[in-house]
Amino acid sequence: MTIAVITIDGPSASGKGTVAALVAAKLGFAYLDSGALYRLTALYAQRCGTSWSDEAGVAALARTLPAEFRDGGVYLAGEAVDDAIRAEEIGMGASAIAALPLVREALLERQRAYRVAPGLVTDGRDMGSVVFPDASLKVFLTADAQVRADRRYKQLISKEDSANLPRILQDITERDARDAARSVAPLRQEPDARLLDTSEMTVDLAVAAVLGWFEQSV
Ligand code: DC
Repeated sequence: MTIAVITIDGPSASGKGTVAALVAAKLGFAYLDSGALYRLTALYAQRCGTSWSDEAGVAALARTLPAEFRDGGVYLAGEAVDDAIRAEEIGMGASAIAALPLVREALLERQRAYRVAPGLVTDGRDMGSVVFPDASLKVFLTADAQVRADRRYKQLISKEDSANLPRILQDITERDARDAARSVAPLRQEPDARLLDTSEMTVDLAVAAVLGWFEQSV
């Protein structure tokens, strides 16, 4: 019997990570934030002094990435890096290295290894198209760019004193364009993925929609 996988792909700041983690908790499934692997690789390269444009160098680091997800936290070489990988600069670095085919290939098997019983919920850009093409349910979760910028802004000002909304919107739009335009595994809705537009939807409703589709699929 194949192990169930729910893939939730979509653009940055769409809320897919929040929805995916809640769906995983409801079902008792494992959860993989694949974007965190790209962010960890970008951070690791920066710390090792390897340029984000050095494809072979970054791919070599990705292959041996000393990353762990445990106790709800993300660790690089034993150090908690939850905040460090969420920095805008590292997000941009992740988007840059994610366009390099050798880096994507280096992370492929590591992502597939998270498929363990009783099941996996994972979010990213190509989880349904490349990493788990045989997923039980594929969701493309999105929201208007302005709505996503507003959400990211609220998240940032809850942690920091200031945040710049026009700048956040510009970053989100630039990152979307880059993730969608790259030649390998571009961000796009697969023909067999369900579209979930959360622009005017609460997190609870989005979670309920995914759970409902999953029940129908099994
Ligand atoms: O979801 P996120 O913002 O944490 O992702 C960070 C970057 O990693 C994003 O700009 C694109 C890349 N990414 C990817 O190319 N493929 C994935 N499956 C997940 C993330």
